[in-house]
Order: sequence, then C-alpha cells, then structure tokens
Amino acid sequence: MNNAFVDIQKSWDLACSARKNSYSPYSRFAVGAALTLRTGGTVTGCNVENASYGGTVCAERTAVFAAVAQGYRDFEHLVVVTETTPASPPCAFCLGVLAEFCPPDFPIYLANLKGIEKSFTLGELLPHPFQLAKNSTLL
Ligand code: THU
Repeated sequence: MNNAFVDIQKSWDLACSARKNSYSPYSRFAVGAALTLRTGGTVTGCNVENASYGGTVCAERTAVFAAVAQGYRDFEHLVVVTETTPASPPCAFCLGVLAEFCPPDFPIYLANLKGIEKSFTLGELLPHPFQLAKNSTLL
C-alpha cells in the first residue's frame, strides 16, 4: 500500500471520530472533517449548530479555523465524512474559506461511513473563487 493511501485512510478515521463530536440537534446531519497539515499531523472539525441556525458552523470551516488559530496555514488534503450516499461535498461557504488558503489542485476527499467515495480538487468544486486581494486596490 502506498503512503498517500495510508495517509488518506488515517484521515478518514480521524474525520469519522470528529464526526462523533458533531453538535447537530436541529438538522441531525452530522459532519466530520480532517485537514492534514503539510508539516504532518491533522486538525479535525465537526459541525456545531446553533439555535439561531445562522450561527451554525460547518465541519470543514471548524477544521480550517482551528488550524489557522493554531498557526497552521499549509494544508495537504481534506477528508469530509457524512452518512450519505453519494457522499456530500463541502458547501460554498466552506469552499470559499478553503480557497483562501489552498491552491486549485488541493485534494478534497468525500466519504461516508463505509469509506472514501470520491475525490475532487478544490478548483473543480469552486473554479472561480472570490479573491478580495486580487480585486481590490485597498489591500
Ligand atoms: N454542514 C457541514 O458541516 N458542512 C457542509 O459543507 C455543509 C453542511 C452542516 C451544517 C449543518 O449543521 C448541517 O450540515 C446541515 O446543513
């Protein structure tokens, strides 16, 4: 088995564990995410819902924000786990947040409880990300 495969299976395991921490009493849709760092190691996230609904944060953004808050900005790949078939891609907000830190060839693995189902690059899922820095004369 090659190292990349072992790495992704390990990330899937970690995303499944993180999914168990999902706080989703309103949607009952639990999501787990595992963001592997370029320097090694993984930061995980789960969705955390709120009674206001709008205050809810997705699993993917929870993972990115936690990683950035810990000083990490260079990511290798992301695994997202839901219980659905077909496996769910990250929402547009999460893709926008990923595009802030990751290049278009960044791999995103979609998985369910049986395992990894398919993969896309960030550029395939969000081909034209909004980039304030490139569009603004203020920054
Ligand atoms: N959710 C995620 O965690 N990630 C996504 O990319 C899409 C949606 C969560 C938010 C909410 O808690 C539940 O799934 C239903 O939308």
